Amino acid sequence: MSEAEAQPTPARPSDAPAASEDAASPPRTPARPAAHVETRPVLVAAEGVHKSFRHEGNDLHVLKGIDLQIAAGEILCIVGASGAGKSTLLHVLGTLDIPSRGRVVVGGTDLSRMSGRQLAAFRNKTIGFVFQFHHLLPEFTALENVMMPGLIQGLARGQIAPRAHKILEQVGLSHRLTHRPGELSGGEQQRVALARALVLEPKLLLADEPTGNLDSGTSKAIHDLFFELNGRLGTTIVIVTHSPSLAEKMPRVVSMKDGRVDEDIRR
Ligand SMILES: Nc1ncnc2c1ncn2[C@@H]1O[C@H](COP(=O)(O)OP(=O)(O)OP(=O)(O)O)[C@@H](O)[C@H]1O
Ligand SMILES: [Mg+2]
Repeated sequence: MSEAEAQPTPARPSDAPAASEDAASPPRTPARPAAHVETRPVLVAAEGVHKSFRHEGNDLHVLKGIDLQIAAGEILCIVGASGAGKSTLLHVLGTLDIPSRGRVVVGGTDLSRMSGRQLAAFRNKTIGFVFQFHHLLPEFTALENVMMPGLIQGLARGQIAPRAHKILEQVGLSHRLTHRPGELSGGEQQRVALARALVLEPKLLLADEPTGNLDSGTSKAIHDLFFELNGRLGTTIVIVTHSPSLAEKMPRVVSMKDGRVDEDIRR
């Protein structure tokens, strides 16, 4: 309740002139939409992040000071024109690349203080990444590709295989378990990459255009899967997308323009 509402209303006859009450009451504050107050702890924070690439002797300044906080359990998307820096930001948030300036803090840990080995272990345990270009291992089957993060973590094949099988079923690929990437369509490869990112139920899922190659029906099923995982497991999900239909379902949309956050809208 606002301070103005909390004031006791003096009893007066209904025909009393309003001006006399106005003179006695504190000035009214005009109604304003409530600002969003995030109560969940921050899981990922980019603080003054810049990223430059050296290209043909010149520095290409791609991220130009990004400040972004993502709460544990949030689901949001990053949108923006091609070349705006979305994939670069996702890589930096996902510890796959390091900022040229500024820092990224995940779960309270400043990543710049970790060694390469620590980072790799941390990433394997905490983050699922779906790349814009899938990066599947060509000599392994769909099932083996999805089992890989578990095997790297030291799980036995018998432990990880049923989980890999189940998640491949959820992305609609139970009939393609033994196909190698070269024997899968682009959209099927993308779904294998998504299953691989999800198999260890990461706290944080970073997905770069995960439904970019899919027809609208399959895209919708994958979008539903994101919301289902977010609701059921509390997975924090950040999706880079060009899909207006996905963006409009999102509670938060971060728009990037020329290496900066242009808008950050919550609804
Ligand atoms: N390793 C690199 N070396 C030099 N320039 C790079 C490198 N990686 C990205 N860039 C440049 O940085 C800019 C941003 O790239 P980024 O991949 O982040 O864009 P994006 O917003 O994801 O675009 P898209 O929607 O097309 O995927 C681009 O102009 C790109 O050419
Ligand atoms: Mg990109």
